[in-house]
Order: sequence, then structure tokens, then C-alpha cells
Amino acid sequence: MNIKDLVRKNILDLKPYTSARQSHNEGILLDANENCFGTVLNEDYFGVNRYPDPYQKAMREGVAKLHNIPVENLFFGVGSDEIIDLTIRIFCRPSLDKVIVCEPTYGMYKVACDINDVEVVNVPLTNNFNIDIDAVKKKVDDKTKLIFLCSPNNPTSNLLDKNKILDLTKSLNLIVVVDEAYIDFAKDEGLIRYVLEYPNLIIMRTFSKAWGMAGVRCGFCVASKEIIDIFFKIKLPYNISKLTSEAVLKAIQNVKKRDEYVNMIIKERERVSLALKANKKILNVLPSDANFISFKVENPKEVYNYLENHKIIIRDRSNQYNFSGYLRVTVGTPEENNLFLQKLNEIL
Ligand SMILES: Cc1ncc(COP(=O)(O)O)c(C=O)c1O
Repeated sequence: MNIKDLVRKNILDLKPYTSARQSHNEGILLDANENCFGTVLNEDYFGVNRYPDPYQKAMREGVAKLHNIPVENLFFGVGSDEIIDLTIRIFCRPSLDKVIVCEPTYGMYKVACDINDVEVVNVPLTNNFNIDIDAVKKKVDDKTKLIFLCSPNNPTSNLLDKNKILDLTKSLNLIVVVDEAYIDFAKDEGLIRYVLEYPNLIIMRTFSKAWGMAGVRCGFCVASKEIIDIFFKIKLPYNISKLTSEAVLKAIQNVKKRDEYVNMIIKERERVSLALKANKKILNVLPSDANFISFKVENPKEVYNYLENHKIIIRDRSNQYNFSGYLRVTVGTPEENNLFLQKLNEIL
């Protein structure tokens, strides 16, 4: 497969912007119209008067080591949400090309396509929320450039079948994006290691979930060097700030802490799931490989409103495709979960 055949021609031909810090970041830097005297911020922010490293070098080296992959296969974005948008812009011509999503799934894939005027083709997940591989294959035509898969899937909380993902990646002439935002909560290492084997596979990860850094806004993708080079070609020159980079470098020194959080969240997830299952008014509780639980009730709007009135905010997912009746709750701290369960039992 030739990846370049899938890339928009204007992107292949693009002469990218060359930023000042691409060529120099040492010496007497009078090239980028920064404030050479310093910053109004205190010493915690030392160095932010200078633009950040456009090559994301330190972060790439750190995270590459963490995942045991080559540096050249990594790209960082302002959350995975930026990577979703960039991926669509690399491969899909507005008002011509198509993207497959498998609903119910994370809503940003469709929104990012809509923003870019790219047609979304929904190939629904099966009844047990897995990929309908034959249906996907049937829907693909020469305008289909991408498929977004989410594993574990939001909002159904299950891992997708690895063999099906790889089958699609092998057999289809398009880019397969697997969003592994919640993989740390699953008993599975994910698909990063297959990226070196499949040039059309993009794996997305984020620091927003298990690492507890949603406010930092940092996600990354792992893909073939060919694809990563194009991300660098089209990204905004300084998409990752120095503060983000410093936060990520500190975080990856503390994998133990992430794992402690993951263990606490999984323990609470199992406890809350059991409590939900014990309530006869709850029609279904989906098994979860993520840090949230989706459960089905007869009156989702009423339940949602009651909880909201008690300042317990969950997510009403009952309007999502093939997901009627379902509410989604993030696994909170034990105290938060107890309050949630108490109020939920009151309304049910
Ligand atoms: C499946 C999935 N992917 C990506 C994201 C967003 O990640 P980020 O914060 O890195 O933009 C979310 C956020 O809820 C999500 O559920």
C-alpha cells in the first residue's frame, strides 16, 4: 500500500511554514520577536518567553522510550482531539471523501468530519458493540479514506476485537485510526506494537484519562514514519507549549502513580458496577474496560435531571445511535460514587 496515494494532493504539495525555532534554539535569539528580557510570570515559568520546540524532541524521546518504539513514529497534539482533526485534514478532501465511524462511539469523529465538510458513513457496531467487519467492508469505496475505531469504545466501554481491527487494516486500502484513550483501564496492551507492521494504522493515546492531565491538553499518535512526517508538515508551528512539554516529561517519570490511579479506578469501577447491577430498576449495566460505566434505565432523562438537581453530573447518552436508555457515569472517588449511588437509588 502506498500511503501517499491516500493523502490529499494539496497536502503532498504543501510547502510548510518554517518557524524560527526549527532552525535555531541556541545563541543570541533575535529571530522570533519574543520578549528577550524575560516573562511577567514567576520563576516557575522560566523560559516561556521563548517559543517551544517545534520538533517536540524531548517529549518524543521520553514517550518513545516508555512505549519502546522509535522516536520517528510519534507525534503530539493538543489532546487527541487535535489529532482527529489533523488526520481528517491530511486524508480527506472536503465534500468529496468519506470517513467510516461505527456508532455508538465518540462524537468528535463525526463533528470533526462535519467541520471539515467530509461525509460520515455510519456502520453501526453489532448488538454486542463490536465491529461489523463485513458491513464495513461492504461500505468502503474509492472515496473512503479513513475509519475511526475506538477501543475501549466510548460510550459502550468495551474493547473491540483486535483480530477484526487487524483484519480491516490488512485488507482495506485506507487509514485505520484506533483511539485508545481508555486502554490503560483495560486488561490489554493495545495495538501500538502493530504500527511498525501496518503502514496504514494510526494509534491515538491521551494524557487526559489515566494520567490525570485533561487540563494540560496533550495526546499523541503512533504511526508509520511516513504518516508522522505529514503530521509535522501540517501542524501549527508551535502546537505543544513548553508547559505541556514539561508536564508530560514530569508525568512519565511517575508511571507508578498512574498505575496506582488506574488500580483505584478499576477497584471502584467494579464496586459501582456491582451496586448498579443490584438495582432491579436498572435494565442493563455494560461491562467496562474503561474508567466509566454505561447503564440502561427506562427513564434516562428523569434520572439525569434528578441527579443534576442534586449537583451530581453524569452524561445522558440515550440519544446516541443504538444506545437508547443509556446513561454514562465516570468512575469517581469512593465518596463521589457513594453519593451518586445514593441519589440514583432514590430516583429509581
Ligand atoms: C474516545 C475518546 N477519545 C479522545 C478523547 C479526547 O481526548 P483528549 O483530551 O486527548 O482530546 C475522549 C474524551 O473524552 C474520548 O472519550
